[in-house]
Amino acid sequence: MKNITFASTNQNKFLEVQSILSTRSITVDFSQRHLVEIQSDSLKEIAGEKAKTAFAKVGRPVIVEDDGLFIDSLAGFPGPYSSFVFKTIGNDGILKLLAGSAKRSAYFSSVIAFYNGIILSISDGRVDGRISDRITECDWGYDPIFVPNGTDLTFAELKKSKNEYSHRKRALEKFAQWYLKL
Ligand code: IMP
Repeated sequence: MKNITFASTNQNKFLEVQSILSTRSITVDFSQRHLVEIQSDSLKEIAGEKAKTAFAKVGRPVIVEDDGLFIDSLAGFPGPYSSFVFKTIGNDGILKLLAGSAKRSAYFSSVIAFYNGIILSISDGRVDGRISDRITECDWGYDPIFVPNGTDLTFAELKKSKNEYSHRKRALEKFAQWYLKL
């Protein structure tokens, strides 16, 4: 068994990270804290800097995550600004922006950044899908409006099976493969 610390404010993310990495024999501690993010168009750059900030605060090897929801007909909006957009216009606002639009394709991207004071390692994952035309029940971010390809259910409706499809699962699988050899 290997261990790693996950630093984030977000308890939902931690529960998913813990559940996914446990299947790869990696236990996860949670360091629940707010980490200042740099502003950038690149999730990889944001996550890399966030991992260095987290390591400085936590004092042991850490992983952090940065995500974005990229909507094709909105030229990739909200992308790296997904957190701000969720807090401001939310899922209602996204559905309004897409009202009457037949093109609803979108993808979720996740970047996991590891830092131990010497090595910075970045792993990414992506899931393609579409934005639903209604909001299903759930209070976890964009889960109520994102439908991954291969199903007609939103992430929220998929419940635990979300992890079979998710961007986070794909990024963490790559991270685990690398970390288990470190
Ligand atoms: P951040 O990486 O914490 O900045 O997340 C960006 C935004 O995307 C936040 O508003 C999150 O709530 C949302 N988000 C990230 N991953 C997911 C997910 O798996 N489901 C739903 N919303 C997500």
